[in-house]
Amino acid sequence: MKHPPRPNSYRDAWCAELTADRAGSQARVAGWVHRRRDHGGLIFIDLRDRSGLVQLVFHPETAPEIHRQAHGLRSEDVMSASGTVVRRAPENVNPALKTGEIELSVAQVEILADSATPPFPLDDGGDVDETLRLRHRALDLRRAPMRDALELRHQVVATIRDVLDERDFLEIETPFLTRSTPEGARDFLVPARQQPGSFYALPQSPQLFKQLLMIGGLERYYQIVRCFRDEDSRADRTTEFTQLDLEMAFVQEDDVLETMEAVMGAVFAAVGFDVPSQPWPRMTFAEAVGRFGSDRPDTRFGLELHDLGEALAGTGFQVFSRVLADGGVVRGINAGRRELPRSELDGLTELARQHGARGLVWAFVEPAGWRSPVAKFLTAAEIAAINERLQASDGDLVLIVADDQIRAGKALGALRLELGERFGLIPHDRHDIRWVVEFPMFLRNEEEGRWEAEHHPFTASTGDLEQPATLLSRSYDLVLDGSEIGGGSIRNHRLDIQERIFELIGIGPEEAQARFGFLLDALRFGAPPHGGIAMGIDRIVSLIAGRENIREVIAFPKATSGGDPLTGAPAPVDDPQLRELGLRLR
Ligand code: AMO
Ligand code: AMP
Repeated sequence: MKHPPRPNSYRDAWCAELTADRAGSQARVAGWVHRRRDHGGLIFIDLRDRSGLVQLVFHPETAPEIHRQAHGLRSEDVMSASGTVVRRAPENVNPALKTGEIELSVAQVEILADSATPPFPLDDGGDVDETLRLRHRALDLRRAPMRDALELRHQVVATIRDVLDERDFLEIETPFLTRSTPEGARDFLVPARQQPGSFYALPQSPQLFKQLLMIGGLERYYQIVRCFRDEDSRADRTTEFTQLDLEMAFVQEDDVLETMEAVMGAVFAAVGFDVPSQPWPRMTFAEAVGRFGSDRPDTRFGLELHDLGEALAGTGFQVFSRVLADGGVVRGINAGRRELPRSELDGLTELARQHGARGLVWAFVEPAGWRSPVAKFLTAAEIAAINERLQASDGDLVLIVADDQIRAGKALGALRLELGERFGLIPHDRHDIRWVVEFPMFLRNEEEGRWEAEHHPFTASTGDLEQPATLLSRSYDLVLDGSEIGGGSIRNHRLDIQERIFELIGIGPEEAQARFGFLLDALRFGAPPHGGIAMGIDRIVSLIAGRENIREVIAFPKATSGGDPLTGAPAPVDDPQLRELGLRLR
């Protein structure tokens, strides 16, 4: 702790402040009973406050009355104690504790609150069922991992604010009760009492407001802001998450990237998280997908994808030849010298299927050819050419997928991550960060037969607007160890171009006016070129903290189901409340 507590009748020091240099002085501390040990006559209590632990000792001879009180103390009771800070005998020193060289010999106690028996132990760091933890979050928050995570999170956000304040950014709030913004997820809706049948949408991001702030001449905006997206929760995504949202006027890509490198560089330095120094490398989307099968590649290990189209140009194996004839790709990875049993190979095939592939070819390279169910369909020359492309030699396991470019990449990218994890190839103690740039502007939604914006429809592009398939978007993602921790773009500041993009993604002029008229109107009155980015704070903190799940760095997270075991939300409401909102349940 940086600042001592103001002395009052509860305390005049933090527990962890009582180190050896305080020996001989008087101190009063307050907190929770972390653990109590009775040693024959002596009673020891580890007292805990946010700063840490200090050992209290109660002597039966010198203070019999308070010794008796100490006897009745239980875990998580709340108390205040004062006495003398005394050095421990050398054999009793606890080097694991900051206060391990002393103890507080207690002369006075006040018991401030009793605790019922906690539903799980708070003092051993053991695994506890998550629902139980969420239901008793106030108790769970007392445990060191949660406190550490929230302290880290605070430090991250405080550093962000420092750097951006230094760089003339204004922190400006934007509304939560608003209209739908198109970030691509489902909206959370809030019924409007005063206009029955109408709804506010909670923002998926402040995207349009931050653009209005630029048109409004504020030049540099940021906000640490909650975003709401009604999509399924996963380890790295929740329905309600926090962004560092930022926008700048009169900027190009390099300006935004440099700003964010300064911010994130300062964050990583402040918390001692070791990443390569800035500027961070940039990789094109095409390279990321081509080499790693992902637009958020984990570049800390190999197992790269290679294209086998050339090696198979004239193949008679229909699984490959058909896909190639349809304009698809055949790609493979060399998994190295592995002897996997059939069951694991079937598991990998299943994984490839889950990611959209129609199948998976596996082969073990042997001196005389391949050991593989499909060896008989390929010529010796084709096998040799594939081996060469994959630099595969005796004993290596080769995995191949034939499909359209996107599906083949996704399936092999997923296999690569799975094998990297399974074979221990990912150096978890080393970190890699890079930008991914030059995304395609649009992706084809074949089912609905239309183009969709890869980032969002307010993103500017380079290339010919009349050839949507060839357009590159002026967007960028920041990728840390295979996680997308941020993304943004330069925007369309010209009305005609913005209107054309709406047209291309099938939003006609009337719909555009109805949904985004407020932005289109503002664009008519002189919008500066502008661009920005948003960073996922929960993801960043969880990666720094090395926690698998972002819920571990959120004070009050939802469960995976989207529900909140703590408050019971979402919950039904009374009929009168529904009536007032003009709603009736079906
Ligand atoms: P985007 O949708 O890429 O961009 O979001 C930016 C970053 O927010 C984080 N993120 C999430 N974190 C946790 N749970 C989620 N459900 C979730 N969804 C996204 C990611 C992501 O990189 N308005 C644009 C930004 C811009 O163009 O400036 C936007 O929201 O780390
Ligand atoms: P099939 O012709 O469907 O019996 O498949 C023969 C082998 O090729 C099986 O091992 C399949 O898993 C594999 N396979 C089928 N389709 C693909 C594909 N698109 N890419 C890679 N392997 C495939």
